[in-house]
Amino acid sequence: MASLLHLLSAASLCAGSAVIARPPVISVPGVPPTPGVPLEAFVSYSIEFSSFPDFAGNLSSPNVFSDNLLNNLGKLQGTKPYIRVGGNTQDYAVFNASQDVTEIGIVDPAKSPDYPTTLTIGPSYFESYQTWPGTKFIHGFNLGRNSTVARQGLIDSVAYACKALEGGKLLHWELGNEPDLFKTSSQGPVRPANWTEQDYVNEWLYWTREIKGALQDACPDLATNESYTFYAPSFAGTNNSLNPIVTWEDGIDTDKDIAIISTHNYISGAAVLGVTLQATLMNHTSNVVSIAKQLNESRLLAELSDSLQPNLPFIMGETNSLYNQGRPGLSNTFGAALWGVDFNLWCATNNISRVHMHQGTNYRYQAWQPIETDLESKGTKAPYYGSIAVAAFMGDIAKATPSIVNLPLANEEESAYAAYVDGKLARLIVVNMMSYNATDYNSNYTDDYPRPVERYSFQLSRASRGQVQLQRLMANGSDAISGVTFDGYSYNLELDNGMPVLLSNVTRGETARVGRNGRLSVNVPYSSAVIVHFGEKAAGYY
Ligand SMILES: *[C@@H]1O[C@H](CO)[C@@H](O)[C@H](O)[C@H]1NC(C)=O
Ligand SMILES: *[C@@H]1O[C@H](CO)[C@@H](O)[C@H](O)[C@H]1NC(C)=O
Ligand SMILES: *[C@@H]1O[C@H](CO)[C@@H](O)[C@H](O)[C@H]1NC(C)=O
Ligand SMILES: *[C@@H]1O[C@H](CO)[C@@H](O)[C@H](O)[C@H]1NC(C)=O
Ligand SMILES: *[C@@H]1O[C@H](CO)[C@@H](O)[C@H](O)[C@H]1NC(C)=O
Ligand SMILES: *[C@@H]1O[C@H](CO)[C@@H](O)[C@H](O)[C@H]1NC(C)=O
Ligand SMILES: *[C@@H]1O[C@H](CO)[C@@H](O)[C@H](O)[C@H]1NC(C)=O
Ligand SMILES: *[C@@H]1O[C@H](CO)[C@@H](O)[C@H](O)[C@H]1NC(C)=O
Ligand SMILES: *[C@@H]1O[C@H](CO)[C@@H](O)[C@H](O)[C@H]1NC(C)=O
Ligand SMILES: *[C@@H]1O[C@H](CO)[C@@H](O)[C@H](O)[C@H]1NC(C)=O
Ligand SMILES: *[C@@H]1O[C@H](CO)[C@@H](O)[C@H](O)[C@H]1NC(C)=O
Ligand SMILES: *[C@@H]1O[C@H](CO)[C@@H](O)[C@H](O)[C@H]1NC(C)=O
Repeated sequence: MASLLHLLSAASLCAGSAVIARPPVISVPGVPPTPGVPLEAFVSYSIEFSSFPDFAGNLSSPNVFSDNLLNNLGKLQGTKPYIRVGGNTQDYAVFNASQDVTEIGIVDPAKSPDYPTTLTIGPSYFESYQTWPGTKFIHGFNLGRNSTVARQGLIDSVAYACKALEGGKLLHWELGNEPDLFKTSSQGPVRPANWTEQDYVNEWLYWTREIKGALQDACPDLATNESYTFYAPSFAGTNNSLNPIVTWEDGIDTDKDIAIISTHNYISGAAVLGVTLQATLMNHTSNVVSIAKQLNESRLLAELSDSLQPNLPFIMGETNSLYNQGRPGLSNTFGAALWGVDFNLWCATNNISRVHMHQGTNYRYQAWQPIETDLESKGTKAPYYGSIAVAAFMGDIAKATPSIVNLPLANEEESAYAAYVDGKLARLIVVNMMSYNATDYNSNYTDDYPRPVERYSFQLSRASRGQVQLQRLMANGSDAISGVTFDGYSYNLELDNGMPVLLSNVTRGETARVGRNGRLSVNVPYSSAVIVHFGEKAAGYY
């Protein structure tokens, strides 16, 4: 405990730590020419279809803890996160109108130990859409299972889904998760090897028209061209067994009902050899390389002929650190929270304008565990604090859309971004991703190896002067899985059911000053991040 206090005060004061000055001075442009512009609810989530009832609860037993965590983000970014309900199990879920229990799932450990690969849902599944006030959803329909029973179930489910989502809860629909893996899925292929982009497009058009027909009967308000819209094509990648560009050429948007181009990304896989926290996640280059695939896709889409040119927002509809639900010791650590901050902001910088971080019950990369299970305790997990920091950096997007740019730094274990509002610098963030292993150093080397602190110096334009406020994203080290705070607040379950609680034992309320020469310096301990707020009060509950 003493060592934690020591380290947290070192965060601001650097007592006992060698401060490493980071040359060169980082120049912050006055007004950026081509910034990234986020959409509302930039910080959003994707929830595994089979886990959604765990996360949201139902009408008689709503999950208030989850709702509190979503409200925290809503207060920071102006809109509660949008929730995409989908993932692999979206394409396993067969609807049965006569089933009186919410879900019947069978886990086949050979296919996946983490979710059911055989799954039926009943009408009460849709109660879960009614437990989080003021939240908008993307409901994922099943395209994968195409037996006659599954196809009938799809159409039967429409009335239940639309009744649950009427009255402003529906954002968009989705039909099919990662159809570019339908032929090759390691959980079992669901289409023949000769299934082409055109086959996919034909099926997608056929079933989206059938769904619209069912909506016309059940919920006519949601069947107008204005309200009937999709996230698509929701591919796992840019070069799997189907090419997303070809799906546009083959007419996926014939009916002009696609609102958002959705793509998925995982930096690497949980079981991939050589994956480490420092090299794979706490590494800005790793994000740049991985997201480059998606940036190619959005560029190629923009180059399509005018008649096909989708000119639609491009987002990450499902993403997280390591596919196959993450690896313990990596995806659930504070280091992964820092990774998530850099990943989200690199997306924002590049006009990937919303990011849905994926999670499911017991998943290692989850932002929170919604219920108690034999495998994982209910609670707020370290990656949630990454979402909080990103939302705080974005500010109230609904009120004032920020413009986001990256500030190139010398090393790949660090990154910095600037946010502008109304043409003025509003916020800076520095993410230091140099590993500081709390397990090793806090207990063994507290005196011998104090946590290093780096000093970052910025050269600001004429407009930015005076006092600035700092907010820190902090924990004991990159391997810590608990004890994370943002700006001195904890969102832990145990304290107030996920509501913000100000801790008295963490430093906050720091300020710094921009010199008359426009120079600003901030100290950032290894494995931590700091947000600098200019000319405004830091947003939040304060
Ligand atoms: C700080 O306060 C929180 C909440 O009371 C507690 O869980 C944590 O252990 C404290 N940390 C230290 C170093 O005392
Ligand atoms: C992002 O999109 C906006 C328009 O919404 C544009 O002005 C800006 O230049 C784009 N930025 C990048 C990096 O492409
Ligand atoms: C609602 O959730 C509770 C708690 O999980 C469960 O016991 C109950 O059966 C659910 N109700 C319905 C209608 O599924
Ligand atoms: C649907 O659920 C009912 C009630 O449990 C069951 O009797 C029926 O066999 C199910 N239908 C199918 C196609 O599985
Ligand atoms: C299922 O998909 C295959 C391959 O595309 C197709 O041949 C078959 O007709 C489909 N079955 C149904 C019921 O749609
Ligand atoms: C595609 O493969 C399926 C089964 O493997 C076969 O029945 C069908 O004829 C093939 N279609 C074409 C166009 O080759
Ligand atoms: C996809 O991969 C193939 C080789 O498998 C390559 O020829 C092609 O250029 C790649 N396309 C894109 C868009 O990266
Ligand atoms: C709605 O969209 C469909 C498909 O693009 C189109 O055929 C139809 O004319 C549209 N209806 C209206 C009222 O615009
Ligand atoms: C960071 O990631 C890049 C791209 O994957 C890799 O080449 C580099 O070696 C990584 N850096 C470290 C320090 O591991
Ligand atoms: C992006 O596209 C360019 C050519 O257009 C290609 O050289 C590059 O390899 C692609 N990068 C990725 C990550 O797909
Ligand atoms: C540090 O201490 C922990 C337990 O306190 C021990 O498990 C670990 O092996 C030690 N690490 C080193 C590098 O000595
Ligand atoms: C931290 O150090 C411990 C002990 O050496 C090691 O087992 C663990 O893998 C390290 N964690 C990280 C995230 O590097």
